[in-house]
Amino acid sequence: MKVLAIETSCDETAAAVVEDGREVLSNIISSQIATHKKFGGVVPEIASRQHVEAINTVLDQAIKESGIKLCDIDLVAATRGPGLVGALLVGLSSAKALAYAIGKPFIGVNHIYGHVCANYISHKDLEPPFIGLIVSGGHTYLVKVRDYVDFELIGRTRDDACGEAYDKVARAMGIGYPGGPVIDRLAKKGKADIDFPRVMLEEDSYDFSFSGLKTAVINYLHHMEQKKEKYRVEDVAASFQNAVIDVLVDKSIRLAKRERLNKIVIAGGVSANSALRERLKESAAKEGIGVYYPDLGLCTDNAAMIGSLGYYVYKSGKIDGDFYARPNLSL
Ligand code: KG4
Ligand code: ZN
Repeated sequence: MKVLAIETSCDETAAAVVEDGREVLSNIISSQIATHKKFGGVVPEIASRQHVEAINTVLDQAIKESGIKLCDIDLVAATRGPGLVGALLVGLSSAKALAYAIGKPFIGVNHIYGHVCANYISHKDLEPPFIGLIVSGGHTYLVKVRDYVDFELIGRTRDDACGEAYDKVARAMGIGYPGGPVIDRLAKKGKADIDFPRVMLEEDSYDFSFSGLKTAVINYLHHMEQKKEKYRVEDVAASFQNAVIDVLVDKSIRLAKRERLNKIVIAGGVSANSALRERLKESAAKEGIGVYYPDLGLCTDNAAMIGSLGYYVYKSGKIDGDFYARPNLSL
């Protein structure tokens, strides 16, 4: 089954053709990061306009590179949420129009589930059940993935998303946008010797909270600047990142043990983080738990993951018929 997929929930205009949920025939991404960088974050109105400008070219390229004809497509899938409403509408409308024109079914799917599916592309033998840790710019979820489209939500952030904390801390340090990749790089050259809080919340809680940590880093920066004391951004990056990773690793492993599952799958933009990958792998191995993460290019937003998800949702028959843009769609 060949799925043509479109993803426009935030600042990437993306289209892909994916076969049977795992084989990527094409995967085109037009990123708007250079535009939004100037503003230190995504400007929704600009994002919508750039999607409109890019979508047809991206779609054409995805079809051309896949080597298939439009009539060979079996299903069109697009992200219906969560995301910026104006951005979502561009991808959804294009997908619906195309499906109608070629007389093939259309489904709207949930971006958060999509991130997990990136792992099915990178690991051909990976199958549920497993523990999923979804950490991106907009979301932080700890889930039990019972089946391809059957997720049990166990923990979530109570304030900032994990990637959002990276971006805000990076902005406070004046080191650029998006913050995750920059902090990842700087942290490698830093010493994690500043004592930032690890927010575990109540005992047994699988929820997260990153805003206290973010504020602690910002307060530290202000304090040092007021006292005119020097600090190394590398050390701040390493210390902040360590605090984030300690919490992510602790909660994911604790949940895997509680559920007696020997696989943890990470997904979303922050799953590109080199230290998170290493630390989680190392700690999980001690408990006999395997760790999976997508190839680097599939961690951040892309349409291949939406093509994989589209296939599994269609195959499950669990199609709820809601094909409207849903900015606040949850799990
Ligand atoms: O999944 P994504 O592309 O968009 C959302 O669905 O939100 O994630 C983007 C987020 C940004 O916050 C970015 O800073 C973060 O992923 N990110 C990283 C890394 N690469 C991207 N965070 C930490 N380390 C990285 N290497
Ligand atoms: Zn995303």
